Formats: sequence, structure tokens, C-alpha cells
Amino acid sequence: MKITFEKSKIEKIGADACLFLCYQDKKLFSEELNVIENLMKCKIAKVSLEDFEGKPNQTVLVYSGDHRIIMSGLGYQNDLTFERVRKATARGVKKAKNLKIRKLAIEILQDQTLEGVEIEDVARAQTISSLLALYSFDKYFTKKENKELSGIKEIVLFSQYNSLTKYSKEIESGIKSGTIVGEATNYARDLGNEPSNIIYPESFADLVSKRSKSRKYTVETLDKKALTKLKMGGVLEVARGSDRDPRFLILKYSGGKRSDSPYVIVGKGVTFDSGGISIKPAAGMGLMKVDMGGGAAVVGVFEAISQLALPINVIGLIPMVENMPSGNSFKPGDVITAFNGMTIEVDNTDAEGRLILADALSYASKYKPKAVVDMATLTGASIIAIGSVASIIMGNDDELIDKLIEAGEQTYDRVWQLPLWEEYDRMIDSEIADVKNTGQSRQAGTIMGGMFLKRFIGDYPWAHIDIAATAMRDREADYDPKNATGAGVRLVTQYLVNESHKN
Ligand code: BES
Ligand code: MN
Ligand code: ZN
Repeated sequence: MKITFEKSKIEKIGADACLFLCYQDKKLFSEELNVIENLMKCKIAKVSLEDFEGKPNQTVLVYSGDHRIIMSGLGYQNDLTFERVRKATARGVKKAKNLKIRKLAIEILQDQTLEGVEIEDVARAQTISSLLALYSFDKYFTKKENKELSGIKEIVLFSQYNSLTKYSKEIESGIKSGTIVGEATNYARDLGNEPSNIIYPESFADLVSKRSKSRKYTVETLDKKALTKLKMGGVLEVARGSDRDPRFLILKYSGGKRSDSPYVIVGKGVTFDSGGISIKPAAGMGLMKVDMGGGAAVVGVFEAISQLALPINVIGLIPMVENMPSGNSFKPGDVITAFNGMTIEVDNTDAEGRLILADALSYASKYKPKAVVDMATLTGASIIAIGSVASIIMGNDDELIDKLIEAGEQTYDRVWQLPLWEEYDRMIDSEIADVKNTGQSRQAGTIMGGMFLKRFIGDYPWAHIDIAATAMRDREADYDPKNATGAGVRLVTQYLVNESHKN
């Protein structure tokens, strides 16, 4: 998708449709209408306004003369947030998605309350939300009519104010970084949406290795033999029941000085989670193809940071398995030994994510990381706790957690913290091994996952992000599609961008 900033007058842009963002405040609303009518040299029929008052969930498509005009509501100016801008843009873009148009012009929101420096952030936000809203995964339909064919090939951001042209550098820079982050998120969505007969540990590794050839990061893949040699018991045991062998991906991006210690980003890579012998119920099991959403997010982050050319070093670790029941599966009651030598009693084979992450988190120590952040679709309980509006964050370092919360607010790929108090710790004690992979009851299920991981971390600041609620959706939202959402990509990329600025 080509997205550019267009300084010239709207009539010279040659767009097939124009999207305007409107405030709900009566005065601002009628001013905007005047602007639209003047710019487009048309009259907007009064009846359209019966259906559209600029409320935050309203969008309207108006035909006037030769023009398609889309208006999307921002709500009251006093309540303006970046997220309102993103959502209004996304809703407008979605309205345009199924029209016969190639070129869509989108008005950059210029608010008197926004300073010049922030216009870059506005352009970025509108770019990202447009790209996310246009996403579709329709490659497996063989009939054209089933595909969500959007004809939009080009988006131009434009302004009704000439004064904005003096900020064209900032706007273009916002569009550029927004395009990188939006496309990286969509790539993570693609990986998540691929079914598990197409994406399994080996094929995921091949795909990502190939992808890295045209980027500035590298991918090293450890196969079963290498994992056996390393004694990665968590990964090997979970993978044992599947005909698909496990893999362990090590991504490397070196944008910093050779001596800079790296950030390590870990992602759960379960390409299909049947639950294993502790098998899941049939309903909705298909969505468990997205149980590698954490791994996909790691790849998305590498796509983004390598193209943004951040001046830091980053390592990505993705343990990849398929969790299946078979005559060769690991079983409830088994005791397994993780990479760091600790023994684990397997109480439930469906708590498999924490077992492969145990290996990855202890392996991370060898990099002497500045910080370790893991992303994992770890617990159904996180969905019960706060629903699918945010991911859950836990960890051992409040400074790191606060930085991630802040990055979440900036991108609206949000996180909310739960505690890892020591009172929870004995709940994962085992009677026959160092630790058990579940708690004693259904209490605090998401925290149990965090407490378990905490036993395997090394001497580094660490945050665990449970993206079970956000990485996969059963219905679409404003700019999130149904199924894989790419949750975590915008969040962790922004965190790393912020870290880069302080250097
Ligand atoms: N991948 C699941 C968690 C999940 C559930 C993600 C629903 C997305 C939607 C994870 O491996 C799992 O099965 N967790 C168990 C843990 C339990 C056995 C302690 C769960 O949440 O039920
Ligand atoms: Mn599971
Ligand atoms: Zn799982």
C-alpha cells in the first residue's frame, strides 16, 4: 500500500473518495461541513446529517456530484484522544473498503490544540489505523466473489489548511514509520491466521528465515537434534506427541554498538494447541492455530525495528512446538527437566506454553540482557479477568513494566498489570518436583502462569505479557479483524523506539 502526503489542493489529488473527520460540537461540525462543501464544490444533502452528527461511532457515506464523501465522527473536541482519531480513521477507511475506488484521500486531523511537533504522531496514527483497517486474510478463497477485495491501492493524506505544508517533513516521517509498523503488524496477523497444516515449527522457521534475507536481521534455527543436545526439556516434551518436530528460533538485530547488551524478546510459538492428553473441548479449538501469536509478534517487532533502523541490539527467541495427544505424548503426572536443570511436574498438558517459555527464559540469560520481555497466549483466565481490551502484564521490575504500560498507552496496544506477590508462589509447589505447571485450583490462573515463569528467569529485568485475550478475536473491532490481531507488535516496537531515544 502506497501512502503519501499530498500538499496540493484536493481537486488536484484525483482521489476516488475523500474521508473527513468531524467533531460533534455543533459549531465545529458546521464549520467542517462548510469546508467540505467548499473544497469539493458540492452541497451535502440535509438528510445525510440526520444520520450523522459526528458522534464517535458514526460514519456516513455521501454521494454528491461526482464525489464520494465519507465523514467519520470524532466526538466532542474536549474528549479528543489519539485513539478517537485512529478509530474514526479506521471506520472511515472500512467504509471505503468495499467501494469501487483505487485512491482514497484522508484528511489529516489538525486540531488547534495540537502543536506542530505532534502532527507527526497524528500522521503516524492515521497511517497505522488505515493499514490495520484494510487488512484481510482471504488467500484461501478460490472464488473471487468470496474475497474481501479492496480496490484501494493508494492513500493520500491531505490537509484543508495550507499552513500544514510547513510540517510536511514531520508528516512524511510519521507516514513512513506508520507504514512500517502497520505492515509489520499485518505480517504478524498473516502468520497467525495461517492454518496449522501450513504453519508448523519447521515451516514457520523456513518462512521467517526467508523473510529475513530481505531485511536487516538474521534467523538461526535450532532443530530437534540441537535442542536435545542443549537439553531443552520443556520444548522437547511438549513437542513429543506431534509428528511435527520442534524448532527454536533465534533472531538477531544489531543496530547498536557491539558492546551494547541486547534486549531479548521472547514469544510463545505453539503452532497448534489441542491441549495434548488434557485435550481441549472441540468448540473453538480451531482458533488455537493462533497460539503462536507471541512468536508472530516477535517476528513483527523484528520487521519493524529493522526497517526503523533503531540504534539498539535485540535478540528474539521463539520456542516452537505443536501440542498434540498421541501414544508418544507427555502426560499428566510426568516429571520433566527444563533447560536450566529444574524439574517440573506436569499436572496438565494444556499448560504447555509455560513449559516451552521456561526453556527460552532461562536460555535468555546467556545474552546478559538489558531487559527481557515475553509475549504469550498463555491463559484463558486473562480473558475472564479483563476481557479483550488489553493484555496483562506482570514481572519483576516496575520500571520496565511502567515503560511498557506507557508504550501501550501511546499505541493503544495496551497492558494492565497484575501482581506476582510471594503468597502465590507456594501454589505452584509440587510434591515430587521443583515446581508444578498449574495452581491448586482455578484461582488466579493468569498469575499462576506468571509465577511459574518467574521461577525460570535469570538475573535480568523481566516482563511477561499475556496476550491470550488480545492476540485472537472471535469478532472484529474497529481496526482489529476477527482471528489474529498482531497484538504486541505495536506495543513492544514502541517500547524499543522509546528506549532508542534515550540513548
Ligand atoms: N493457549 C492456551 C490459552 C488460551 C486460551 C489462549 C484461550 C487463547 C484463548 C493455553 O495453552 C492454555 O491452554 N492454558 C490453560 C492453562 C490451564 C490448563 C492451567 C487455560 O487457560 O485453560
Ligand atoms: Mn494449552
Ligand atoms: Zn497454549
